[in-house]
Amino acid sequence: MKSTTISYLNKWKKKRKKFAALTAYDFSFAKLFFNEGIQILLVGDSLGMTIQGHNSTIPVTIDNIAYHTSAVHRGAPHALIISDLPFMSYATPNQSFKNAARLMRLGANMVKLEGGSWVIETIHMLTERSVPVCGHIGLTPQSVNILSGYKIQGFDTENANIIFNNAKAIEAAGAKLLVLECIPSTLSKLITDTLKIPVIGIGAGSSTDGQILVMHDIFGITDGFIPKFAKNFLSETGDIRAAVRKYIYEVESGIYPANENCF
Ligand code: KIV
Repeated sequence: MKSTTISYLNKWKKKRKKFAALTAYDFSFAKLFFNEGIQILLVGDSLGMTIQGHNSTIPVTIDNIAYHTSAVHRGAPHALIISDLPFMSYATPNQSFKNAARLMRLGANMVKLEGGSWVIETIHMLTERSVPVCGHIGLTPQSVNILSGYKIQGFDTENANIIFNNAKAIEAAGAKLLVLECIPSTLSKLITDTLKIPVIGIGAGSSTDGQILVMHDIFGITDGFIPKFAKNFLSETGDIRAAVRKYIYEVESGIYPANENCF
């Protein structure tokens, strides 16, 4: 079986073929998601909330991500696996080299890190050392304490310009992929149209090349506040596998995200 590589994502972007990605944290779901057609899996630090029950991603450690990365890799060895570098695991170049190498050895094909201008040098250094990097801007949950909560970013012109310039700098530094979280659809369209690298959105409108959701959100098992962009595909299908297929179908055909899921 062929493995999903970055070149697939680039081809999809060129052909304007939308793609769906999901978070995965364990062997069984990774296997099920890949078998139903999800080719990109994120071992997200959202596991701090979904798996560990914390109220933020801050407590997640590199040991946690390493443990879940190897389980996901065993479940879906041919998926493109992106693993998050968690809070404070890439604060210095040496930390990021060591931690990225650890995740790559366990099966990650790419690492994701949050932030704008301050991560540019790190992205450049990791890329030079053969570590593919996915940037993550807009709402960056690891900065929840600086942002004073999980708020939509980029509504005012100044903040929108910062996000746009960061997107261009992240691409120029060598990132292979970019996640945009919780920004207005108009801004994410501008970024997606401007960048050559594929752009994946979560709460970033329908124009991005791909969409990603936290797996618990597509099954409607997220506790507490349900973000506007989340959609329960299980309630419509009654079956986990069918819910995954419906998610893929709706992303590929442009049904999801609908206006009601966008900002
Ligand atoms: O950790 C995560 O699940 C993420 C997604 C929300 C993109 O970063």
